[in-house]
Amino acid sequence: MAQLDETFWVPGSKREMALAEWVLVLGFSAAAVLVHGQPGDTMTPTKSIADGQTLISSGGTFELGFFSPGDSKNRYLGIYYTPDKIVVWVANRISPLSGSTGVLNLTGDGTLEIVNSTGYIFWSTGTSNAINPVVQLLDSGNLVLIEGTSKTLLWQSFDHPTDTLLPGMKLARDFRTNLDTYLTSWKSSSDPSPGDYSYKINRNAATELFLWRGSDLIFRTGPWNGRGFNGNPQMSITNLFRFHLSSNKSEATYSFEVLDNSILSRLVSNETGALQRFVRSKPNLGWDLYWWHPKDPCDEYANCGANSICSTNYSAACACLKGFSPKSPQNWRIGDNTDGCVRRTALNCSSGDGFFGLQQAKLPDTSNATVHSSKSLEECKDWCLKNCSCSAYAISEGSGCMTWTGDLVDIRVFTEGGADLYVRLASSELGNVYFLRGEVKPLGKTISTPYNESRGNEPELPLFDIHTIRTATNNFSDDNKLGEGGFGPVYKGQLEDGENIAVKRLSKDSVQGIHEFTNEVLLIAKLQHRNLVRLLGCCIEGEERLLVYEYLQNTSWDCFIFDRTRSALLNWQKRLDIILGIARGLLYLHQDSRLKIIHRDLKASNILLDEELNPKISDFGTARIFKVDQIEENTIRIVGTYGYMSPEYAMDGIFSVKSDVFSFGVLVLEILSGKKNRMINQAKARLNLLGHAWRLWTEGRCLEILDEAVGCAYPESKVLRCIQVALLCVQEGSEDRPTMAEVVLMLGTESALLPQPQRPGFCIPTPLMARDWSSSNKITVTIEGR
Ligand SMILES: *[C@@H]1O[C@H](CO)[C@@H](O)[C@H](O)[C@H]1NC(C)=O
Ligand SMILES: *[C@@H]1O[C@H](CO)[C@@H](O)[C@H](O)[C@H]1NC(C)=O
Repeated sequence: MAQLDETFWVPGSKREMALAEWVLVLGFSAAAVLVHGQPGDTMTPTKSIADGQTLISSGGTFELGFFSPGDSKNRYLGIYYTPDKIVVWVANRISPLSGSTGVLNLTGDGTLEIVNSTGYIFWSTGTSNAINPVVQLLDSGNLVLIEGTSKTLLWQSFDHPTDTLLPGMKLARDFRTNLDTYLTSWKSSSDPSPGDYSYKINRNAATELFLWRGSDLIFRTGPWNGRGFNGNPQMSITNLFRFHLSSNKSEATYSFEVLDNSILSRLVSNETGALQRFVRSKPNLGWDLYWWHPKDPCDEYANCGANSICSTNYSAACACLKGFSPKSPQNWRIGDNTDGCVRRTALNCSSGDGFFGLQQAKLPDTSNATVHSSKSLEECKDWCLKNCSCSAYAISEGSGCMTWTGDLVDIRVFTEGGADLYVRLASSELGNVYFLRGEVKPLGKTISTPYNESRGNEPELPLFDIHTIRTATNNFSDDNKLGEGGFGPVYKGQLEDGENIAVKRLSKDSVQGIHEFTNEVLLIAKLQHRNLVRLLGCCIEGEERLLVYEYLQNTSWDCFIFDRTRSALLNWQKRLDIILGIARGLLYLHQDSRLKIIHRDLKASNILLDEELNPKISDFGTARIFKVDQIEENTIRIVGTYGYMSPEYAMDGIFSVKSDVFSFGVLVLEILSGKKNRMINQAKARLNLLGHAWRLWTEGRCLEILDEAVGCAYPESKVLRCIQVALLCVQEGSEDRPTMAEVVLMLGTESALLPQPQRPGFCIPTPLMARDWSSSNKITVTIEGR
């Protein structure tokens, strides 16, 4: 009896009831009511249901009766699950009764109606002229009104859904009459009247369902793929349910069945704008939320605007489709993606456009799509190529070949499931063979100059995809973390081929757009010098910006120099070599490369050592590229590390090559002394390393600064020269400091004459300075954590 539902009816304007079984059911139930006088599942014109009385379906699953939802005192007639009173259908949702005088009547001519004591009709099925009508609450939750003699179905609650879809119930759209059967949310948990949200079969393309808020589309399921909807990959793999979508020229219907008999399930369009699928095992252990939509920002309709891809692996991210760029780059950069993307190169239908493929996609809005059910993938492609207004095609299993015209809206990519979408591009945009897979990335693994810029002889920089990086870094695990700087953490990783990499994950608060980022990265990629860490590539995924560097065995210099055991390996000559290496690297950045680059965050932890202890400057994510004739720049946001920043930079935000020279000077003193500038503990003198060095210098005892670990074997004159150069670098006035070219000369040539250094900037103890800085809200200082 439980399996009796409307699949037994033959569809028609008056649906016929076909089976002898029905007679048995009716006969049995009616008999039960009459014989025992208990609440049965059936009512006839001789029996009314007053407030307080109920019908219970034969299997005991559902009950029909009056109830008051939530805080409301109003009375509604509804159908609900027996044990937990969860309402699945409401008769008089827009006309509640204010007291408990309501009665459900079945008139002799077959009209089901709710009336109060004065006879006012609150709700009615409106059918009539039946002989021997009978009403029954089926165990499917369907309330049916039958003409007893002909067994004709006159009316059923399943044709009038409220906010809940039950197994066997159908959402339907009749294209001839435009009759639409859909879910409408309640207004609130205390008010079942129709709320803002409705869930309907799409009018233009019957292969998908839309969730609306008023007249705004807020979520779409994606087209039918034969097992479920393309936009919910779980539907295609679940074995709890079977979903049905049928559509032809005149009508489309959607329904589901539960395959496991011990399970109940319902789909609800809830009052806050979500579709929720619940399941419950029949022994009532409570309802579980099985899935819901919209479940993440990419589920929200057109979250990234037109012609873009939304992807949410761990943060929502919009990216233009290949061959497209942001329509409003400025808005895009600050995270407003609503304008979407536009083609970079106009299509040229006659001269051979092509397609690039996007895998694991939620296919675009089908409202402007055409279904050609019998075409193969090849035929689909040919058709699209020939029709100049065709902008994309795909094969969706349940629907066949689909083609789109115009903008492609509401595409997302999944990590599992989804379909292949082929997007039409001008042939010039198809230089590389691209196939995007579940991510916003070309498999060709390179990027060239982004967006509209000319494509000259720019080097191509490998573009890593996020999966590769995740796998390599054990999903950015803490165990792989090498350190954390002001611009985000750095992870060690190993590529599949065994190559070790260091991955710098730029923190998300940088508003740098993809455009500037790639530009900058491409520039940095051009820098090749033995004292600079090599940038291997980058990874861009929405907000995520990752820089991939070569990994250096001995990691950062600060682990070395400030470690007693390891620093013993560093004799005088080794230290001098390191100082010279850093100086050459910096000189290259400042002047020898075609660009003029200010590092801005030179410090011990940004100096990496290779196996032979050659120093390599790392971390250009913070670098600023100067125009060659530019001398200094002013910045609101100070980046850099406390202890290494020049006074004019820390105080006034002015940076120039000379602020790097200052940091270099601090670094040299640290290398010579084996101490950190901020950590020196000269309690009496209250001086930092700079102040300490200056004092030793003025007292003529400056060799005392040398790290004991250096031992005694060192040429005094060279050490003195080195200290003097360092002190010249950290002088307060930036104009007094030498350039890196002069530094290299002074360090490398015994005969070069050195000026006398002036007092360094910042030789007072650092806590004092920190206080001064924090009182100025003009600048932010990145303080290096230890
Ligand atoms: C509607 O469903 C969403 C998603 O499950 C949920 O977060 C929200 O609380 C639900 N609203 C109500 C009123 O139940
Ligand atoms: C091209 O496709 C559009 C949309 O499917 C269709 O309306 C139009 O008739 C097609 N044109 C040709 C020449 O086939």
